[in-house]
Amino acid sequence: MADEDPIIETDRDPIEALLAGNRRWAARMERRNPGFFESLRAQQRPKYLWIGCADSRVPANEIIDLPPGEVFVHRNVANLVVHSDINCLGVLDFGLRVLGIRDVIVCGHYGCGGVTAALRPSENRIVDHWIRHIRDIAKFYRPELEAIDSPDERNRRLCELNVAVQVVHVDESPVVQACREAGGTVRVHGWIYDVADGLLRDLTPTVSDIRAYEPA
Ligand code: CO
Repeated sequence: MADEDPIIETDRDPIEALLAGNRRWAARMERRNPGFFESLRAQQRPKYLWIGCADSRVPANEIIDLPPGEVFVHRNVANLVVHSDINCLGVLDFGLRVLGIRDVIVCGHYGCGGVTAALRPSENRIVDHWIRHIRDIAKFYRPELEAIDSPDERNRRLCELNVAVQVVHVDESPVVQACREAGGTVRVHGWIYDVADGLLRDLTPTVSDIRAYEPA
């Protein structure tokens, strides 16, 4: 089908090209699935909450091959779940209590810029306040990280540990605890994405490791 091919519009304002791209996309979606937008208009019933990195290479719906309407998404630098971040907690609360989501996915990625920054000296910028949360993780797991000789492998391990810690933060958050006390089942999954091959890895073993390591 001709509409499968991206149309390259070199002589057009790039922002106008985006709007034109949107019109092509909407027409294609409707052609493949008549009534698609009408059904979305009625209500959103996503089954999954995705907490991921803001990195442009890790788009939530696309890498798990799901259309609009299936994933409720929160993204920030380095996929952090900070105990006092009302933005993330608001998404979590709305997702669980109002939308009735029962599966939360925390997805990190190898080569995360936030994690890389946490392994370097601070530049004393505003973003370093945010990165400090990852530095704290690096400090906590310092013996394990220092035992890894390769800087690249150390970086990858901190990316994994970061996801695992955020899984625990979601799991132990008052929002999730309250859902469980009310009899609900909430599952929190830790995944990591590799930009180099497009594949997700399940980090359940790392989450179990850090639970065993962390004091109660
Ligand atoms: Co990242």
